[in-house]
Amino acid sequence: MTRITNLVIKRAHGAKFWTVDDEEYLDFVSGVAVNALGHTHPEVVEAIQEQAGSLIHLGLNYGYYESAVNLAEKLAEITPGELDTVFFSNSGAEAIDGAIKLARAATGRPALIAFEGSFHGRTIGATTLTASSAKYKKHYEPLMGGVHHIPYPYALQLGAGMSEQEATAYSLDRLQKLFELQVDPSQVAAIIIEPFMGEGGYVPAPVAFLQELRKITEKHGILLVFDEVQTGFGRTGKMFAAEHAGVTPDILVLAKAIASGMPLGAIVAKRELHEKWPVAGHGSTFGGNPISCAAALASINVIVREQLVERAAALGQQIVERFNRSIGHFPAVAQIRGTGLMIGVEFKDQDGNPGTKLVAAIREEALKNKLLVTGCGVYGQTIRLMLPLNIAEEDLDQGLTILEQAIAKAAAN
Ligand SMILES: Cc1ncc(COP(=O)(O)O)c(C=O)c1O
Repeated sequence: MTRITNLVIKRAHGAKFWTVDDEEYLDFVSGVAVNALGHTHPEVVEAIQEQAGSLIHLGLNYGYYESAVNLAEKLAEITPGELDTVFFSNSGAEAIDGAIKLARAATGRPALIAFEGSFHGRTIGATTLTASSAKYKKHYEPLMGGVHHIPYPYALQLGAGMSEQEATAYSLDRLQKLFELQVDPSQVAAIIIEPFMGEGGYVPAPVAFLQELRKITEKHGILLVFDEVQTGFGRTGKMFAAEHAGVTPDILVLAKAIASGMPLGAIVAKRELHEKWPVAGHGSTFGGNPISCAAALASINVIVREQLVERAAALGQQIVERFNRSIGHFPAVAQIRGTGLMIGVEFKDQDGNPGTKLVAAIREEALKNKLLVTGCGVYGQTIRLMLPLNIAEEDLDQGLTILEQAIAKAAAN
């Protein structure tokens, strides 16, 4: 695994953690977009403790238990459209693999289409869909068959000066060419996309692109799968990123922030689709374990009650405006983008190439000043902010100031 620091960490609370030597750090990584409520939120801790006292594990093949049923009902309530039925897994990658199985079983079709730059996880199925770095696939070929990739509509990377509309048209054209030259649409089970690309660079897909994908998939009987493992639960300033485009996918895959750090993934779809999945066609010993489900219910309750989705939208706008003023003028800053608290700052070097070294220098300088931030992007050229949605104003300001100073220092060299 990659380690982003060599720190030995003892405890964490809110947007901070402390090392074994009691050094305090601000955490703008949030367990890689997991701790939407910050670390050890009291209501989540209480729910975990209470659940652990009454039921730790059975397995959902026993029958039913309250926390899993209540969580499934809650997810049906808060997810877009009429998605009303849930299969629980342990992680994002595992849920993606489940979604692949569901799509193939329900359609009887073999092929899958994913996007260059995307990241879906580390199981063999999810690794096959992933195309954000060849190093994730090196040594593991041959991977799963039947997977095709087309470019994500990421204007800045697709061509100098390309507009969002041009990027949308280009990616749609490549999809059409794929249908004509390589795989007939009648053979395609699903198109799988992150509606807001995470690891690949913190890049939102244009609304028009997602809407067009919805029309194309409907026309050909292809299932549309949204991987909202990183975007779900308020991160983008909507409960789910799908809402920005007003598009309901056929399958919504969730994990990360769902349970504030307890392992849990979810495959959400309409009942009629889930019912096409044969009994015993999938399963999991731990998936949907009672403690993870209780933690998820508690964290969703806090997100809704404290209107943290709305807060994420407002704070995100303020941060982007602040960055435009404070760092937007540096030639090394290629783009400041994002919605809600999914904000990326992409860097370029003096020759216009990806600013990989700049990002490494910024992260190192920030860490020296006790702020943990990390990067993303195919070349590691983007700084990404993964703030708790409930971050205290004071922590936010302090962290942003450290980051701006680190950027100013790196950009000046
Ligand atoms: C969009 C997306 N999908 C899937 C995954 C895989 O999730 P997990 O690490 O829980 O397997 C990730 C993890 O970073 C992700 O960002």
